[in-house]
Amino acid sequence: MDSFIIRGGSRIKGTVEISGSKNSSLPILAACLMADGKTILHRVPRLSDVNSMIDLITQLGCSVKRNDPKEKGGLQLNGSLEVEVVTEQQCWAPYEVVKTMRASICVLGPLLAKRGRARVSIPGGCAIGDRPIDLHLRGLQKLGAEFRTENGDIVGEVRGRLKGCRMYLGGAQGPTVLGTINVMCAAALAEGETVLVGAACEPEVTDCANFLNAMGAQIKGHGTPEMHIEGVDCLEACEHTVIPDRIEAGTFMIAAAITNGELELRNCELDHLVAVVDRLEEVGVHFEQQGKNTVYVTSSRRLNPVEMTTQPYPGFPTDVQAQLMALLCLADGNSVITERIFPDRFLHVGELNRMGARIRKEGATAIIQGVKDLQGARVMASDLRASAGLVLAGLVAKGVTQIDRIYHVDRGYEKLEAKLQAVGANIERVSQKAVA
Ligand code: EPU
Repeated sequence: MDSFIIRGGSRIKGTVEISGSKNSSLPILAACLMADGKTILHRVPRLSDVNSMIDLITQLGCSVKRNDPKEKGGLQLNGSLEVEVVTEQQCWAPYEVVKTMRASICVLGPLLAKRGRARVSIPGGCAIGDRPIDLHLRGLQKLGAEFRTENGDIVGEVRGRLKGCRMYLGGAQGPTVLGTINVMCAAALAEGETVLVGAACEPEVTDCANFLNAMGAQIKGHGTPEMHIEGVDCLEACEHTVIPDRIEAGTFMIAAAITNGELELRNCELDHLVAVVDRLEEVGVHFEQQGKNTVYVTSSRRLNPVEMTTQPYPGFPTDVQAQLMALLCLADGNSVITERIFPDRFLHVGELNRMGARIRKEGATAIIQGVKDLQGARVMASDLRASAGLVLAGLVAKGVTQIDRIYHVDRGYEKLEAKLQAVGANIERVSQKAVA
């Protein structure tokens, strides 16, 4: 297992190219199961979660090929992915894959719609809290799928063809992102019209809807809580470019702020980050849009404390909560963060406190008392975004920070240490053996 060793204190400065979105790429790869012909996808990031999804759709009968990277304006772009279904025999997403990546559930809707059957291992516990799939199942049931549980798997079947209907898809915690995508995918091939009320509005849902529409689907209202989907008989493969990763962009914005540095972020879609920019401006971070997708980020030396509550899009994303918390540890006063999406997503609190932060948790709220500085320590990554928060804290902490279990980072950040090194951070990856 690898660790990061970070020597804090370098002010980061330079240009960072934001990768394609992980959370768009995963369901889009799953939706390729519904296409006839060869799909070509651009800007799919090289991440372990993406590799897991590629393995899964390969097991489900797809041939997947990644072309060589190419240069564009001095930047190395990932090679495009070519995906084509070659056999529809296998419909099982087994435990071995699902336990490494919960987003495996994304194959459920596409398999039921295209092949009429699916077997997916039920995702188990998760470091960021309970993550049920009841809304996915309820939505698919309303379209006519039947489910039973067998040896830890959900087994789904469709008699004839799925049928469109009007349904409410929200739950106690609000809308579900992957649940909306699963039902939207299934409805795209159902008979008649489906109306999804209470749909998730995240840009990743919109990106997936745009991808399906490019394949011939008839989806309207994506990006709003009410989607209208007129089912079609088949979907033809298309070419699609995945949207920029808004969570990676938010993480680098905070990297600039926490080191009092300056970054030019390329391939950054500010429209997807309005709530993040709003909170960061309140803290004292400055943004300047330069050209269509380029943003220049700097910050004031004095960081203001803020209050923030995570919410479904367009609210502040839960996936940037840990990173903002790392920044607020150094604010001049007390900040309050409330987690409305995953109320237990606070495993980073104890680790940040080991670095000298003063954070107290009360239920789904954390009260962060700003301190003058953080100190390096040996800490443990618990999930993807918590790890990113620890990396940010390490960049500014005095002395050396060692972050263990960084396989979590590799799930969702493409070349994180290389991108940080290129802008002056002192961060290296070492194998656990080397540091023992
Ligand atoms: N929920 C239910 N029932 C369901 C589904 C969800 O009660 O059937 C609840 C969840 O427990 C949670 C809320 O609804 O309280 C929202 O969860 P959602 O379904 O939207 O989460 P998700 O679709 O499983 C995606 C991202 C997460 C991100 C959340 C929220 C992917 C692959 N994952 O998960 O990303 O935190 O939306 O925005 O897109 C990450 O990238 O680190 C990550 C965890």
